[in-house]
Amino acid sequence: MSKKTVIIYSFHTRKSKKAAEKIIEVWGKDEIDVVNAEELSREVLEKYDFFLLSAPTWFDGELPNYWDEFVPELEEMDLQGKKFAVFGLGDQKGYPENFCDAIGILAEIIENCGGEITGFTPVEGYTFESSRAQRGDQFVGLPLDQENQAQMTAGRIKNWVEELKKMTNDE
Ligand SMILES: Cc1cc2nc3c(=O)[nH]c(=O)nc-3n(C[C@H](O)[C@H](O)[C@H](O)COP(=O)(O)O)c2cc1C
Repeated sequence: MSKKTVIIYSFHTRKSKKAAEKIIEVWGKDEIDVVNAEELSREVLEKYDFFLLSAPTWFDGELPNYWDEFVPELEEMDLQGKKFAVFGLGDQKGYPENFCDAIGILAEIIENCGGEITGFTPVEGYTFESSRAQRGDQFVGLPLDQENQAQMTAGRIKNWVEELKKMTNDE
């Protein structure tokens, strides 16, 4: 059975917004709700079972401000039984030591609250030095790099969404 799914991203971003719109298109816009990350509330997190979260990395390895502001509330929540897949824009050439750190930071917070992270992707095909999003030979989400690998974004999104949809349909 299909879960109640929502995608959460900041409507004021440029590249993340475009990536989110592509994800929605591939997912099927009638099968996913859309929420602005800047207006995120506890009610939204309580309402859904499956979340696609956008976490672009800013400030040399940090979450964007709108996530930072919500984290204290998030940390108070019990997310057991809920699944989360995180995608994030980053720049592997410009910030090779902090590539897509925000994906890892958000994933850790969610796991500490009992939530399950899904949608891991292999590190193969990316060139970077270190990333908080890396666990073994995988990222704990989907890194997208419009600065250096824009031509790969559509394919990466397609593969990721197909895997996630397969998982939600199997349950
Ligand atoms: C000031 C600044 C700091 C950044 N820091 C990082 C970083 O630490 N790691 C990373 O992977 N990308 C970093 N980036 C790259 C952004 O994540 C990338 O440009 C992304 O596409 C921005 O997405 P947005 O337009 O949706 O906000 C940084 C960009 C800027 C301008």
